[in-house]
Amino acid sequence: MPKGQQKKTPLASSAPEATQAFAHPAEAEFARILDFYGIRWEYEPHSFPLRWEGDQVAEAFTPDFYLPQLDLYVELTTLRGGLNREKHRKVRMLRRIYPHVKIKLLKKRDVLRLLAKYGYGPIGPDELPEIDRILIPPPRLQERVAELARLVEDDYRGLEPVLVGVLRGVVFFMADLVRHLNIPLVIDFLSISSYGQGGSVRIIKDLDEDIEGRHVLLVEDIVDTGMTLKKVLDHLQGKGPASLKVCALLDKQARRLVDVPLHYVGFEVPDEFLVGYGLDFHQRYRNLPFIAIVKHEALA
Ligand code: PRP
Repeated sequence: MPKGQQKKTPLASSAPEATQAFAHPAEAEFARILDFYGIRWEYEPHSFPLRWEGDQVAEAFTPDFYLPQLDLYVELTTLRGGLNREKHRKVRMLRRIYPHVKIKLLKKRDVLRLLAKYGYGPIGPDELPEIDRILIPPPRLQERVAELARLVEDDYRGLEPVLVGVLRGVVFFMADLVRHLNIPLVIDFLSISSYGQGGSVRIIKDLDEDIEGRHVLLVEDIVDTGMTLKKVLDHLQGKGPASLKVCALLDKQARRLVDVPLHYVGFEVPDEFLVGYGLDFHQRYRNLPFIAIVKHEALA
């Protein structure tokens, strides 16, 4: 009969300074990857009794990691031969006795595959040398986009809004946002070019739609100085929309130079150089499924 989990005091929990507690270098490497991806972890937090002699636990199994966001235990298999067979046997027993417990036996090469399955993308920290760490992981991004969509949907029901995106960075956010909107709507895009720091912003591709008398929601990936948004709002206002509001995924207030109204904001972000989910660094990294911080030394 299962006797439940025995809670142990976690040796470490997403704390890089505690890595000396790891029994094996592969575990430290796994923790480093999880930290990079912003995935919380606990090291050996639970022991599962597997066999009893009378009232005494005769055999137990302590998986290497527990990932609370995924509700998943992970046991790393880096050693060969007998020890691996022993781990497989214990995992089989654990699954039989505790069928509700999710556990995966992972070889090192399986780790990134597992993360890709959970939406973190197939690229590991070693392939992203300019990236310091992930600021907003994919599940949090998707969750927040869905929340924003619910707010927008409630406000625009019956109004058939025109959602206007400012190319190019916004396409990822825009695509995810509109897929969550279960109301009739129209999408359109503007393209602008900026000239140097504090320089003028020029419209290089105007709207295809006539927005006069229509309800317009301007969608932006990030508002930084606010210069682009100010210019675009003035431009759109000149076309006589019935209403004009702004939905920005990221708000970097620390860098604001002009006051601009933001009606829907996904996340307030720190004054760091961000990439991913549409944002680029020299046109790269737009395709990352998360928002990440570029290393300071890469910007020098
Ligand atoms: C980004 C973003 C905004 C603008 C915000 O575009 O999409 O349009 O910067 O910055 P601001 O508030 O300081 O004006 P970017 O010029 O990088 O072009 P992109 O969308 O093609 O990446």
